Amino acid sequence: MRRFEGKVVLVTGGNRNTGIEITDLFVREGAQVFMCGSTPESTAKGEQILRARGIGDFTAVPCDVSDAAQVSHLFDVIAEKAGRLDILVNNAANQGLGHGGPLEMTTAQMLDVFKVNLLGGFQVTQAACNRFFMKQEPNPVTRQKGVVVFLGSNTSMRAIRNRTAYCTSKGGIDAMVRSLSLDLGPLGIRVNEVAPGYIYTERWDVLDEKIKARRRLNCPLRHEATGGDIAEAVAFLASDAARNIGGERLVVDAGCSAQHMPEDVDF
Ligand SMILES: NC(=O)c1ccc[n+]([C@@H]2O[C@H](COP(=O)([O-])OP(=O)(O)OC[C@H]3O[C@@H](n4cnc5c(N)ncnc54)[C@H](OP(=O)(O)O)[C@@H]3O)[C@@H](O)[C@H]2O)c1
Repeated sequence: MRRFEGKVVLVTGGNRNTGIEITDLFVREGAQVFMCGSTPESTAKGEQILRARGIGDFTAVPCDVSDAAQVSHLFDVIAEKAGRLDILVNNAANQGLGHGGPLEMTTAQMLDVFKVNLLGGFQVTQAACNRFFMKQEPNPVTRQKGVVVFLGSNTSMRAIRNRTAYCTSKGGIDAMVRSLSLDLGPLGIRVNEVAPGYIYTERWDVLDEKIKARRRLNCPLRHEATGGDIAEAVAFLASDAARNIGGERLVVDAGCSAQHMPEDVDF
């Protein structure tokens, strides 16, 4: 029996990098999956990659999660094709790259990041609750009606340079997960977060090997996560095995958060 047989799953930002591996895992584990990128083009590209891998039962629907009308349309498609939703993975993110330091960045740049990472995650969660979870019978194993997993970041606790908007938004996600967990838990909706550290994405492909090696030295476990490593953590928190875990932040960062200084400056 596959882990998510019969479940309906939505993965935002499920079209590339980490999100595509989350989509891939849930489909392989038997779920009916809906995934979105922010535009028709990026979503179609992700769909092509997954189809080329032979991944079958998923539906790709473009949706900018910061736009309420597009979120509403996404849930119309899920209603029409599946009629229910069991698991929401809020993975979509604006990385807030290239803003410069806090003295240079504009209000518009700051808002763009918050609109995707905070407002986007919130309004997709609210729609999942109101359109599906609250109307569904509880799962007989967990006595829960729906599960939400957010993608946070270890940068919410230990900041990185020139990423004020991103780090702040990820700190907001930590707080939102705790807050939603308190309010939604009694209603049968379980909310948690995976907080990754370094993940190998297409942004690593262009890095010099020396930079990759230096980053790996920063990791007590000596290697960044793959998208698949993060997908496994998401799957655990989404699964019935995690039915008594709520409002929690599962850090997947090769042990980085455990250290004060990386090895080459710690003497
Ligand atoms: N990469 C890391 O090292 C790292 C570390 C810690 C935490 N994380 C977190 O882990 C998650 C995945 O990271 P990643 O590096 O794989 O992300 P990524 O490469 O930056 O991809 C972001 C995804 O979000 C989608 N997205 C962006 N804006 C959107 C919007 N307005 N509406 C809908 N989708 C939108 C993108 O779709 P498009 O293709 O349309 O742009 C893309 O699929 C993110 O939440 C990230 O913050 C990543």
